[in-house]
Amino acid sequence: MPEQTLAAVVRAAAERLDAVGVPDPLIDAELLAGHVRGLRRGEVQAAVIRGDMIDEADAAAFAELIARRAAREPLQHLTGAAAFRHLELAVGPGVFVPRPETEVVAQFAVDALLNDPDPAPLGVDLCTGSGAIALAMATEVPHAHIFAVELSPDAHAWAERNTADADNLTLVLGDLADALDELDGTVAVVISNPPYVPDGAVPRDPEVRLHDPAMALYGGEDGLDVVRVLSTRAMRLLRPGGLLVIEHGELQGGEIRALLAEDGWRAPTTHRDLTQRDRATIALKP
Ligand SMILES: C[S@@+](CC[C@H](N)C(=O)[O-])C[C@H]1O[C@@H](n2cnc3c(N)ncnc32)[C@H](O)[C@@H]1O
Repeated sequence: MPEQTLAAVVRAAAERLDAVGVPDPLIDAELLAGHVRGLRRGEVQAAVIRGDMIDEADAAAFAELIARRAAREPLQHLTGAAAFRHLELAVGPGVFVPRPETEVVAQFAVDALLNDPDPAPLGVDLCTGSGAIALAMATEVPHAHIFAVELSPDAHAWAERNTADADNLTLVLGDLADALDELDGTVAVVISNPPYVPDGAVPRDPEVRLHDPAMALYGGEDGLDVVRVLSTRAMRLLRPGGLLVIEHGELQGGEIRALLAEDGWRAPTTHRDLTQRDRATIALKP
């Protein structure tokens, strides 16, 4: 095949992704072209404008990635990386891909640690998956010590890789129900993005339904099985005045506030994300 312009190849790829319902086809085509050529997305756009050519080997590698993306493999599995706050996390099969809305939820925990008078406050991320929230806390609040718990051995392996260089982070393979009991009564902040999808509410997007692990998504009949355990466990972990932060689905704020109030939490409050959806509930240990 003769050399083609990058512009023509990227345009054709975006049209193919659009035809199968990929939500941001041009962005994905540009990011995958960048992945093949070792360029950032802005550099791909500049190369397109300049009329750069793409050689046969790169075009073949790009075509293979576009075919996989058209089959709705997550973009982040194809590039092997997911952006989260200032971090780039390694992700792939077996681990939940961190989402932009969780970046906003993580801010509550980062702020609480930054404002804590303790010179070395403890933070805990239960259900850490790739380690995204835990690593954000550990790197943005370097004087804190962060503990992260993950039950799935596959996800734990990704978290291990992502957090290997963080000296102030301890990663534990285990169940949030009984992990870290040596910290009871000492923790400043507990944060969790638990599985919260009701078992019957199977997600529409194939990227989520087929590629995020079931253990990361489903939380029993009403979606709140893990949240109930989390409430009990966090109550024991936190010191008086400590903060609990829970990410949840947009329709679960009321139920979670009621559940927390019942368990004795002070001032359960639900917050919206940037798209005005209820997304996180926070509460204080009395
Ligand atoms: C929605 S994912 C969140 C991952 C990560 N915190 C994030 O925000 O990207 C939920 C994670 O909880 C883990 N998990 C589920 N049940 C658990 C339990 N009982 N104890 C610890 N981790 C659990 C899943 O394996 C999955 O990695």
